[in-house]
Amino acid sequence: MNICIVGTGYVGLVTGTIFAHKGHNVICIDKEEDKVNMLKEGRMPIYEPGLDKLVEENVRAGRLNFSTDIEAGVTSSQIIFIAVGTPPSEDGRADLSYIEQVARQVARHMNEYKIIVEKSTVPVQTGEKVKTTIEMNVRSKIEFDVVSNPEFLKEGSAIEDALHPDRIVIGVSSERARKVMEDLYKDFNAPIITTDVKSAEIIKHAANSFLALKISYINAVANVCELAGANVMEVAEGMGLDKRIGRNFLNAGLGYGGSCFPKDIDAFARISEELGYDFPILKEVQQINYDQRKMFVKKIEQELWIVKRKTIGVLGLAFKPNTDDMREAPAIYIINELQKRGANIKAYDPEAMDNAKQILDKVEYCQDPYSVAKGVDCLVIATEWEEFKLLDLKRIKKEMNQPNIIDGRNIFDPAKMIELGFNYRSIGR
Ligand code: UDX
Repeated sequence: MNICIVGTGYVGLVTGTIFAHKGHNVICIDKEEDKVNMLKEGRMPIYEPGLDKLVEENVRAGRLNFSTDIEAGVTSSQIIFIAVGTPPSEDGRADLSYIEQVARQVARHMNEYKIIVEKSTVPVQTGEKVKTTIEMNVRSKIEFDVVSNPEFLKEGSAIEDALHPDRIVIGVSSERARKVMEDLYKDFNAPIITTDVKSAEIIKHAANSFLALKISYINAVANVCELAGANVMEVAEGMGLDKRIGRNFLNAGLGYGGSCFPKDIDAFARISEELGYDFPILKEVQQINYDQRKMFVKKIEQELWIVKRKTIGVLGLAFKPNTDDMREAPAIYIINELQKRGANIKAYDPEAMDNAKQILDKVEYCQDPYSVAKGVDCLVIATEWEEFKLLDLKRIKKEMNQPNIIDGRNIFDPAKMIELGFNYRSIGR
């Protein structure tokens, strides 16, 4: 099939590459010329394991192209995926102006029957608005369908997630669109759930909010564990073995960040409110998530007593491992708060330091964790990168001024840390 993807962000770029890998002809459109040129030269705008190789393979095979020319993309394709950003606006609602712009552009260049797919995460009823926008901007009477096909890939394992999804959700309003979409996904070897458009839109928001709820729930449990002298990791194991609960997303820590959960929960709460339902549990989820960071800073303060003029090393800046993404990363809040209290900050992240430099001021960036540890009064673990789990802790201790480690991701064994002579604190243990 000929497929056009509008927007080469995380979702758009990965989706386009995966379809090309499956043998389709894909043209990825982005209005940013620099980004398109970068992609044409084989350079990736994001760090995502395995993506560069897959892009290169498919570009070489002639199945994957990048362009700024949306007209060429629309006229040559049967299916057009809208994968542009839906950032939060000031009041927490999703800003849908990029979606609307693309819908208008697509409408103007439609030359025959097209399927327009919402791939970006959007609030329920966006499909209806996209449909009306296209109807109002299309130049002659051309048939089209608007489909919702939410993406569930996670950063850091995006290729794997997109190639082997747990399920594929297709929200359609016509038989014609259903057939084409099911055909497109037939060899993905995953269950396909076909629904109406609104239900598909809600599936995405409801799924992400539920996962965030799981995280906030275990973080709340972690707080009880800490007060009671229990171990949240053992509690999570014990809960997670119940098949109805499952172990995934029960890792207590600094709470969720990233480009999706914070904004999706906000947007879901807002749209629910607009529709007439106050969704209090979502507000609780957000509050617990915020408090988790606040309490973590307090924990550092408790251990250091005076933070002013102390040097604190932060290991990990990205919102989670295997990504260079700093959006809503807990490390930003933690570093800002510690700086407000007068601390000097040293930091290291295997991938996110370039992005961090755009956001965080007055941080001394180091080349490796050992240089971070040199002379610090406290080490903070903010992201659970694999390389931190393998650190030579004896060497780390020798480098430090005071052996305080405050671990926001529970990557070390408390007993072992005490044996090594650290003053070690973690979450819910
Ligand atoms: C998420 C969804 O998982 C994905 O389906 C959706 O399409 C986009 O949003 P992503 O933001 O890439 O993906 O990361 P994810 O792995 O889901 O983690 C989100 C946040 O939750 C991270 O900050 C992570 O550190 C945190 N998290 C996750 C926890 O704190 N505990 C957990 O047990 C799991």
